[in-house]
Parts: sequence; C-alpha cells; structure tokens
Amino acid sequence: MSSLALSTGLPPIAARLRGVASSPVREILALTARPGVISFAGGLPAPELFDAPGLREAFAAALAGESAGRTLQYSTTEGDPDLREAIAARLTARGLPTGADDVLVTSGSQQALTLAATALIEPGDRVLVEEPSYLAALQAFALAGAVVVPVACDDDGLDPDAVAAAAAEHGARLLYTIPTFHNPTGRTLPLERRRALAAVAERHGLWLIEDDPYGELRYRGEPLPSLATLPGADDRTLALSTLSKVAAPGLRIGWVRTPPALRRALVIAKQAADLHSSTVDQAAAARWLATVDLDAHLEVLRGEYGRRRDALLDGLAGALPPGSTHNRPDGGMFVWARLPDGWDSDALLRRALAHDVAFVPGYPFFAAEPDRATLRFSFTTHPPVEIAEGLARLRRSWG
Ligand SMILES: Cc1ncc(COP(=O)(O)O)c(C=O)c1O
Repeated sequence: MSSLALSTGLPPIAARLRGVASSPVREILALTARPGVISFAGGLPAPELFDAPGLREAFAAALAGESAGRTLQYSTTEGDPDLREAIAARLTARGLPTGADDVLVTSGSQQALTLAATALIEPGDRVLVEEPSYLAALQAFALAGAVVVPVACDDDGLDPDAVAAAAAEHGARLLYTIPTFHNPTGRTLPLERRRALAAVAERHGLWLIEDDPYGELRYRGEPLPSLATLPGADDRTLALSTLSKVAAPGLRIGWVRTPPALRRALVIAKQAADLHSSTVDQAAAARWLATVDLDAHLEVLRGEYGRRRDALLDGLAGALPPGSTHNRPDGGMFVWARLPDGWDSDALLRRALAHDVAFVPGYPFFAAEPDRATLRFSFTTHPPVEIAEGLARLRRSWG
C-alpha cells in the first residue's frame, strides 16, 4: 500500500491526502493484467459484449451536422436534457418514479460519490459503511475528512439494528450502502431489512447513499425496491447508478437521483469539480439509449453473465482448499469466498499468479481489522471454458 510523500525541499501536499493510501486493488490488478493470466480479479465487463457498433453510431450522430455545434459546446452542469430524461424514464420503469430534474449526470458514479461527500461531510464526521465495502467510496469519504465507521454484515448484508446502534454510538449523519449485488461481497439486502434500514435512517436522521451499479445485472430472482422508494428514506436517499456495467465504463457516465433538498448543493459541488460532464459522451449516451433496445441488450448480458456465474459456482468449491466457503449471488459480478482459518488469501494469490490465475484478496476492502482469509472472484471477464481452466489452475496452485 503506498501513501503519498514528497522529497524534502518541496512544500507539503495537503493533509487530507496524506493519510489516504492508493488502492491496493489497483496495484493488484496491475500484477494480474499480464498476458496469459486468467483473471477473476478486476470487476471488468466483458469487452466482447460492449455494443461497439451502436456506440460508434451514437458518437457519429452526436457529432453529425448541426448537432456538432451543441455537442462540442460548454453546457449545463446538471447534464444533457435528453440524457436526464432517458435516465429518469429508465428509473421510473424500474419502480423508482423519477423526473428529469431529479437527475444530476456525473462523470461515472464515482464522481457522484465525491460530490455527495463534498456536500454532506464535515471534517471529522462519522460515515457508516458496510464491512467490507467498495474501496474507492471509502477513499472519497476519507478525502472529505470523514472518519469511516464499518458496520459488520452477515450473508444478507447490513443488520439494521447494528446500523441503529452504530448511528447512536458515533452520532453519524450518513450511511453508504450497496444493497444489491454488493462490491466486493455480492450480497443483497432482503426486502424486510431494506424497510427496517429506511426506518432506522429516518429515526436517526441519516442521509443514505444507495450505490447501485449492478442492479440491472440480475440472473435469477425478482428485483428488490430501491431504498429511495421506502417509507422514511424517500426524502433522504441519494440513489447512484451508472452506464458503466450496462453500456461501457469508458463512457464515464453515471448519475445521482437527488432529493430536492440536496439538488443545489450537489450542482454547486459539480460546478466546482468540472463544470459539467463531457457533452460529447453525454450526447452519445443519450443517442445510444434512444436507439438501442436496452432490454434486449440487457437480456444478452444477463444470459452470458449468468452462464459465467454458473461456471464459477460449479467449480469454485473444488478449486479452493477443503473447508473454504463461498456465497451464490443472484446477480452482479462478484462471488465472495473465505479460505479455512489460518490461510492468507494474499499468500494464495502469489501462488496462483505463478500458475497464471488471479483473484483479489479481501483484505483491502475492510475499513477495520481485515479478515485475511477472504477473497473476491469476478466472473464476468472470461467465458465459461476459460473460467473452468482458471479454476483448474487455482486448484493446482495450492495442492
Ligand atoms: C460499488 C461501486 N460503486 C461505484 C463504482 C464506480 O463506477 P463508475 O464510476 O464506473 O460508474 C463501482 C465500480 O466498480 C462500484 O463497484
């Protein structure tokens, strides 16, 4: 893990950055990107499933004729009106009634995390997060000066009573959660807990950041409601999502559906950050959403990713040391596993890499004392036959 430091003679960098380590996951991903490695490490969508022809056409149309003048010009901070409309319509169709004015387009949902942190966190504030959690969110909160307070989770995610206790003990004003196909654990918060969590948020005066990049990637079971639809949470939930997993992460198009009370603060934070997201990317995304059959495209993604999930789950128990455990998420990109007590997943990764197979150890995702026996497998990058070969290599790496 590398922290920032400058050589002597130069003025110091800001204190808020000094304590924030660069993500060990990025460093591990650099190690695992070697040609020939079958990688279960990065949460990368399958590139062969990108709608490259559709996106090429969308960019061409966005830049064609008279549209080009508008597409290449400065624009409003809130985002391209057609794109905001399209996002609002999609959220509404998925059961979260949304108007275009509720949507702030961001440069990936990662930027929405930074803007939310800027708008809501005072230095020293306590922010509740799932343990483990998405590392780059923890970085965004740390940069805003937050003290991250991890809340222990079980196989169903957050325990609302534990959230209530932590909120009371730490005087927290904000909870960050990924309730559907969590990163890194793949866990999904059941309906009853969602309702209870919404009530806890209201009782304890918490803002809720509901981060949902994976909700559209469901391979079995029925969709669950966004926290923003539930009594108690509707006026206090920032609902984040992205085109990264359903279209392409290189587009860098995400959004936050904002409660009215926060709209202005988030827009000001975004103005200060980048004026607006790329007009070209937004216009192309709007065009793509207007022309693609998104449900058909998602059917293709769900079909193929579902097969890849099954291939991983079919072979994982046999590829890990006896006594290991893993879960069986209904969607998303990740399976969470645990080696028997006494094993260290980082040490296993070194052996796995020698056999040209990779995963991500779980320890970087913990805000407090890490469980070093845990590990995350992403199943979306490789087709089933390569997944089977990767698992055979993993089996050989420790045997
Ligand atoms: C939970 C979670 N939130 C946010 C992001 C950021 O996604 P993007 O900025 O590409 O929308 C990711 C990316 O993997 C993620 O897993």
